[in-house]
Amino acid sequence: MTSAVALLGSPLAAIAPRGEGAQRISELWWVMFGLSLVGFAVVLLALGLALRRRGREGPRAHDRRLIIGGAVLAAVLVVPTIAMTITTSRALSEDDAPAFEIEVTGHQFWWDLRYPMPGSTRLDEGRTFRTANEIHIPVGQTVRLRLRSADVVHSFWIPELQGKRDLLPGHENTLDLHATEPGEYRGQCAELCGRGHALMRLLVVAHPPDEYEAWLRRESGPVAVQPDAAMREEFGNSCAPCHDLRGVFERETFGGDVGPDLTHLASRRTLAAGVLPNTREALGRWIIDPEGVKPGSRMPDVLLDAGPLTDVVDYLRELE
Ligand code: CUA
Repeated sequence: MTSAVALLGSPLAAIAPRGEGAQRISELWWVMFGLSLVGFAVVLLALGLALRRRGREGPRAHDRRLIIGGAVLAAVLVVPTIAMTITTSRALSEDDAPAFEIEVTGHQFWWDLRYPMPGSTRLDEGRTFRTANEIHIPVGQTVRLRLRSADVVHSFWIPELQGKRDLLPGHENTLDLHATEPGEYRGQCAELCGRGHALMRLLVVAHPPDEYEAWLRRESGPVAVQPDAAMREEFGNSCAPCHDLRGVFERETFGGDVGPDLTHLASRRTLAAGVLPNTREALGRWIIDPEGVKPGSRMPDVLLDAGPLTDVVDYLRELE
């Protein structure tokens, strides 16, 4: 599991911002930190002076200057903090014209993602396609996330890019993402949502615009390799009850959104919602021992013998 952390690279660091929202939050944090330091220093100084005077003059009932000074100090520290908090919240509220929308649905314990097809920017405008656990965005543009939940309350948090926002059953929240530098940004569900909560991770990949367009074209397309008859049978029995393969198995037995869409699984950086690096060995382990890899995951044990398991892994590895 340490390898997954290394693979995901960037830290969960809210005060090392690389996105517009996180930048504003971090500025507010530093101002609050500075004002608190000033308050702390003044109080320590006052305490020191009072102790010295008490040593010289003996105890006194009260000192009016101290009371007034304390009230003034509190006002001087608290008023700017409140004002700046209000301005920051306003600035964090929505951009008027986001470049496009992505629907993010929280599931125990992974993220379902729905994008508009290339050429379209709104989810309710036309056709969409699905992917999971890895949000790709163009750098320098504002992207509107529409946050929902399929079960319990989750919380979407990419510390380097933006503040947290809850995903609620029966209610849609929105959150704008705007990365200012290309890179990979780690995220983590920030609301206790069950046994698999700590391992409900995700990744945001911010690309230069042309690289993003290439990703979008590939990701919105059909499976790279059609399954042969044997794989159709194997995948149909073992995987399709929970997972879609666009154009081959869609919304089969349980509706297809029980587990992540696997159409371009091989192109993702991680498996099991940011828990494992996407390698051949890790994929095999995840399929045969989901509970060992990610305790509490809803992925059932798939009873595959060594031969069919190798075939399924080989096939999934081809799905770039
Ligand atoms: Cu989802 Cu914690």
